[in-house]
Amino acid sequence: MKIFIDTAKLDEIKKAISWGIVDGVTTNPSLIREAVEEEKNAGKTVNLDSYIEEICSIAGKGRPVSLEVISQRADKMIEEAQALYKRFNNIAENVVIKIPINTCTEDAITDYEGLATINKLAKKGIPTNVTLIMKPEQALLAAKAGATYVSPFAGRIDDHIRKNLGIKFSKNDYFDFELIQECSRKGLNEHLRKLAEEKISTLYHDEKIRELYTGRKDNGITSGVDCVRKILNIFKNYSIQTKVIAASIRNSRQVREVAETGCDICTIPFSVIREMLKHPKTEEGVRKFYSDAHQAGYNELFNL
Ligand code: E4P
Repeated sequence: MKIFIDTAKLDEIKKAISWGIVDGVTTNPSLIREAVEEEKNAGKTVNLDSYIEEICSIAGKGRPVSLEVISQRADKMIEEAQALYKRFNNIAENVVIKIPINTCTEDAITDYEGLATINKLAKKGIPTNVTLIMKPEQALLAAKAGATYVSPFAGRIDDHIRKNLGIKFSKNDYFDFELIQECSRKGLNEHLRKLAEEKISTLYHDEKIRELYTGRKDNGITSGVDCVRKILNIFKNYSIQTKVIAASIRNSRQVREVAETGCDICTIPFSVIREMLKHPKTEEGVRKFYSDAHQAGYNELFNL
């Protein structure tokens, strides 16, 4: 699995690349804002143009950098995509343009503008990363339109499901969807036991069953990782070449589960990379080895 770093902070990109673990960079307007504000708070003046230039240059050739458009209409997004590509791709030939799958909001009915943009850019040979993917159907359409990458937002999908279920959570909590399934199965079984004699047609229309079964309100997608898995399966079924980037990653276990799906790429925030490295037994082992090495006289060996 390739690892991209999900940040616009220059020091985080530099460090992670120096460890040899990073194959690309993903940014979005919120990540750029966070990075720029951090620089400004540190007393630096930031010119966004030079700042993005630096991101592309630090990432270097062979490591794609996703830069997002900001409009809702296809003609505007195409203009922005071309401007970004023209301005920054010559630095390290690594620019990928991020396009939301659907730019529709309450005040702008623009459902098809994302697809139109992806297709136009594909025809122009400009690589795209289709963002804000929350269900496999969106990924399928993005791929058909010619997307180079699709980014299912695993963490935000988990947030959506948990919110619908009325489950309290903090941003980085692991979402234990297997426990949810177990709980709904248990409730369903208990209810079914009471209705043992009913016919299937009666059970099918039983409101309590409907509530217990479809009460997960997940539209058949049990978690963010499940959405990634379903997209990969669909792409495999039809030999679709579009690569899948698991995005909106919140914790180390989610990275593991994404890797288990065989996903092409996972884009990971810097803080989650640290969490991936941590284990209390590793820490305990290090302490013990250090103290034993000292007792065994290793200091002499290394002339310390
Ligand atoms: C990267 O492509 C996405 O923009 C990013 O992973 C979103 O992460 P978030 O849901 O934590 O904001």
